[in-house]
Amino acid sequence: MQNNVLILDFGSQYTQLIARRVRELNIYCEIHPFHNIPDNLDPFKAVILSGSPFSVRAEDAPHPDLSKIKGHKPLLAVCYGAQYLAHFNGGSVEPSNIREYGRAKLSMIKSGEIFFDNIPENTNVWMSHSDTIAQLPKNAVRLASTVDVLNASYRIENEETYAIQFHPEVYHTTHGKQLLENFLVKIAKVEQSWTPAAFVETTVQTLKDQIGNDKVVLGLSGGVDSTVAATLLHKAIGKNLYCIFVNNGLLRKNEFDSVLHQYKDMGLNVKGVDASERFLKALEGESDPERKRKAIGNAFIEVFDDEAHQVTGVDWLGQGTIYPDVIESVSVNGPSVTIKSHHNVGGLPDFMKLKIVEPLRMLFKDEVRRVGKEMGIDPELLGRHPFPGPGLAIRILGDITAEKVRILQEVDAIFIDGLRKWDLYDKVWQAGAILLPVNSVGVMGDERTYEKVVALRAVESTDGMTADWVNLPYEFLQEVSNNIINRVKGVNRVVYDISSKPPATIEWE
Ligand code: XMP
Repeated sequence: MQNNVLILDFGSQYTQLIARRVRELNIYCEIHPFHNIPDNLDPFKAVILSGSPFSVRAEDAPHPDLSKIKGHKPLLAVCYGAQYLAHFNGGSVEPSNIREYGRAKLSMIKSGEIFFDNIPENTNVWMSHSDTIAQLPKNAVRLASTVDVLNASYRIENEETYAIQFHPEVYHTTHGKQLLENFLVKIAKVEQSWTPAAFVETTVQTLKDQIGNDKVVLGLSGGVDSTVAATLLHKAIGKNLYCIFVNNGLLRKNEFDSVLHQYKDMGLNVKGVDASERFLKALEGESDPERKRKAIGNAFIEVFDDEAHQVTGVDWLGQGTIYPDVIESVSVNGPSVTIKSHHNVGGLPDFMKLKIVEPLRMLFKDEVRRVGKEMGIDPELLGRHPFPGPGLAIRILGDITAEKVRILQEVDAIFIDGLRKWDLYDKVWQAGAILLPVNSVGVMGDERTYEKVVALRAVESTDGMTADWVNLPYEFLQEVSNNIINRVKGVNRVVYDISSKPPATIEWE
């Protein structure tokens, strides 16, 4: 891909957002950590330096060697990047006297600069730094200021090097996308040719070249990622793709049968394996969340391995890994630290000795959906909420029994069906029910009961990294709660989770 943009990540929480904005311009880009600059820079038509939680003045701050980039490629330095260029090229960066956080206005924009084409003075920008550029680097021309930040933007004379101390990638920077477009399209002359259709075409061709007549096995989960990955592989190699869909007994009610049918209707070569008993056995007596995850992971590997061995002469393992998983495993720090062992990177253990093929490795979730749509996958399948790999096991707090799974499946089905009936399903990023390990007292008829409590959780989010609870209508909650308590034996109390992430998480375990 010769039309590529390189984003060097200095650990900012916004780096992924830069990539998304660039891709929204139909331009392909890749994030690489600052300490791992690709040797071959030929494929990259432009480079963007991200922000960072570090101060350039700190000893342990990122100090990449940019000698092959600055002055050689069009370069956009954002925030830390802008300060880094200033600090090491004859300028100075100092702690700022006032806090430079949040909204500001570009009160001065130098006229006649392509970089600021179609961007009016006083446009809103988003600042987030505690250092400031006190003195511009050598040969710099100031391009914009705010009331508090004199050097909000500069460029270097006789180079295509541009720098900004604000964040163009965040929503609050009103003309952020325009600025990125000015830099990438007008200055760096990158083509806007990255579309779902182009992605499908090139990926299918690459997969054909890569795999040839080899066989691939792939575990389907019922989720969007594995479904889209399988469909791409199917387009490339047809019947040589062997899909395995395992019922771990922790799926939603009726999910195994209905999704298996859907897969068959799509023409996929898929085998459904009901291993519910095996998983329940592996989970017996386990109440620690990490141990539950491990038990499920191990059971899955065993089942999958058994099945994969039934296909003779397999060379490849297909996986639905997507870009955030890949970036998370290489990034510097901050939000990229792995909090739970739920990432697919690294995949299955060595003993499987298969080569890995990951057709969605470079896509964000919303791009995966668009690619799926491009290939004609059922919108209902593509619109499905994310569902964790360990399934209901991490929504049943404490140990897991068949009876608890049954209860939670019933509760979850009432909640999810209700969301669909009330036309709320697509307005929610993810929803589900949690079975709590406490009983509470209740009264039904003349009798006192002492039964289970369930919590309902519905969140809005764009990527699962941050999330907020959804303000569902009271009437809806009332109906769902009534249905649950009246219909699901063993539950006498329903509560609604109103915590945001952070500080809470989406799942309870
Ligand atoms: P949290 O709970 O970390 O969830 O806010 C963020 C997203 O990740 C999903 N999740 C998991 N997915 N295995 C998975 O495959 C897990 O153990 C796991 N834990 C959380 C969660 O459903 C949400 O979409």
